[in-house]
Amino acid sequence: KSHLKTVEEFAADNLDDVEAFRIKYLGKKGILNHYFAEFKSIPKEDKKLFGQTINQLKQAATQKVEQLKAELSKVNDEKNIYGDLTRPAEPSEIGSRHPISIVKNQIIEVFSNIGFNVSEGPEIEDDWHNFTALNLPEYHPARDMQDTFFVQNNPEDLLLRTHTSSVQVRYMENNKPPIRTISPGRVFRNEDISARSHCIFHQVEGLYIDKDVSFKDLKQTLIYFTTQLFGKSKIRLRPSYFPFTEPSAEVDIYWGLKTETDYRITKGTGWLEIMGCGMVDPNVLKNCKIDPKEYTGFAFGMGIERIAMLLYQIGDIRMFYENDLRFLKQFKSIF
Ligand code: PHE
Repeated sequence: KSHLKTVEEFAADNLDDVEAFRIKYLGKKGILNHYFAEFKSIPKEDKKLFGQTINQLKQAATQKVEQLKAELSKVNDEKNIYGDLTRPAEPSEIGSRHPISIVKNQIIEVFSNIGFNVSEGPEIEDDWHNFTALNLPEYHPARDMQDTFFVQNNPEDLLLRTHTSSVQVRYMENNKPPIRTISPGRVFRNEDISARSHCIFHQVEGLYIDKDVSFKDLKQTLIYFTTQLFGKSKIRLRPSYFPFTEPSAEVDIYWGLKTETDYRITKGTGWLEIMGCGMVDPNVLKNCKIDPKEYTGFAFGMGIERIAMLLYQIGDIRMFYENDLRFLKQFKSIF
């Protein structure tokens, strides 16, 4: 009976102790076999109680061994799955934003601070929104300026948009002035891939339409923008031609102006073109049901890759699309 109590109260935290316990009670030379051997010499009247007791003891010991083995091997399995739970954690790797997204978000931030909203449109466009509404009727020679990918065999003349000016047309069709919007997005041009150009790239185009908007508003906006993005910097406007703006200009930034306020500008390569701009052509306004006698506006457009290459001193546009982690991991930003 005292054995029974010991067996029931037995506890172990490792399998070796359980095995020792098993041998002690259930082994060949164990306590139980010893009692079973003694059974013969027990007086008849005590046999029943003695027999019951040792059977009870055997059952209790067997159960105890099984129970402890099951419990301890479960603990072992958990250790194998989770390892040592007291070990310090591995540092977890945080992803980084793509440099194109960082610069796009920076540009959006700069323009939303002066009241521009963000508009988006389809990448597969029709001829009207990509060309005709923008004062580029069929057979206009300037259509060749933008090597277009056409969606074949389509009766509606679908194409991959060559610029996000198409989004501005859609915005003007659906909104009344005053309009202040920027259109970031992916654009497509049938160009050879090289270190400087790619057939897929990204643009942010801007549009401002209201009463009495003038060229000096455009220039002031551009100065604000370049100062925000590049720090203290110098720009110049060069006369140019776009079918949808008149007059038109190209914006150059002086690259190599090392300033105290901006460490990013380091390489001296002179004037670099960063965007196109101009006053929205009255024909474009008319095409979008805006009265050019009442409203005027300016527009501009830039390639995000070009800006990112300047900001980060990246020498080859193809790096943006190769998904090389050694390249991508270098960009850590709150934007
Ligand atoms: N849409 C022109 C381009 O893709 C850029 C531009 C936009 C120029 C607005 C002038 C005004 O090249």
